[in-house]
Amino acid sequence: MTVYSRIAGTGSYLPAQRVTNDDLAQKVETSDEWIATRTGIRARHFAAEGELSSDLALKAVEAAIASAGIAREEIDLLIVATTTPDHTFPSTATVLQNKLGVYGFPAFDIQAVCAGFIYALTIADQFIRSGTAKCAVVVGAETFSHILNWQDRTTCVLFGDGAGAVVLKASEEPGILASKLHADGRYKDILNVPGRIKNGAIDGDPWVYMDGGAVFKFAVRALSDVAVETLALAGMEKSQVDWLVPHQANIRIIESTAKHLHLSMDKVIVTVDQHGNTSAASIPLALDEGIRSGRIQRGQTLMLEGIGGGFTWGAALIKY
Ligand code: UT7
Repeated sequence: MTVYSRIAGTGSYLPAQRVTNDDLAQKVETSDEWIATRTGIRARHFAAEGELSSDLALKAVEAAIASAGIAREEIDLLIVATTTPDHTFPSTATVLQNKLGVYGFPAFDIQAVCAGFIYALTIADQFIRSGTAKCAVVVGAETFSHILNWQDRTTCVLFGDGAGAVVLKASEEPGILASKLHADGRYKDILNVPGRIKNGAIDGDPWVYMDGGAVFKFAVRALSDVAVETLALAGMEKSQVDWLVPHQANIRIIESTAKHLHLSMDKVIVTVDQHGNTSAASIPLALDEGIRSGRIQRGQTLMLEGIGGGFTWGAALIKY
């Protein structure tokens, strides 16, 4: 019997504070026109003072558990994808496990920046397919606002905070059909936070740095290629994809990926306009939005894909 990982439920959470482009233009030399035209972003949410990635993750997981109709005691694996962990250690996953109040099963973080959720989902899928786990919770959670430099208008207008989660259960029905991950460390310097904690102080720059043009070029090619690769692994055609659920960084990158998949934009879940780039949280946030809005239906085929610093990228083809 083939065992698949099936999405049993999804959930997401956005912190209360919503900040529009016009709000940002009060403190940064920018405009709604510049941000919206270049990126498609109109608003993003920012965590409150003291609100951490594990707090956002907890709300998203609670919603996912409710939608899956499972008891928290059924969870036997917890993976958190985050670029903005609560601490250097312990992992945000163990902090979250404690907040969930269920213990003993493996819990760990994955760091693959904006590709983190695809990495975490693929790892959870391997645990389930091998019989090591039966009910995994996979989360993408970010407080990216903590690493934004308000003196750098080329990056600070692009990102937001939030969390999204899925409950994956072992099932005879498909499921995750195929996934493919990549990394290329030669590109580590075009998108990063170069600083580190050393001897009680920050050594180097603690803010996000991005060469936007280089990232854009890399992303368009890599995302198109990995979608094709993942379809081939599943033995499926572009025409069989019902929904593209991409990482939400820039509407122009999303449009280009959709075009390569021969999908019209009404077959793409877009949240970048309202969420900005929430890094590892963006794909599960978009997935939950697509499902809760009633657009994504059971039995449909979804292409999830993301790309982030490292560089890291990947895709997952899913029968919902
Ligand atoms: O999640 C990881 C994936 N990340 C991404 O996918 C991001 C990919 N890159 C991008 O989305 C785009 O490269 C950006 C949106 C970041 C930048 O767009 P661009 O069309 O490449 O603009 P640019 O960097 O070439 O800047 C054009 C101009 C510059 O002015 P000059 O030198 O032409 O006078 C910038 O100084 O826009 C200026 N500028 C701004 N103006 C108003 C840069 N940031 C801003 C701003 N507001 N926030």
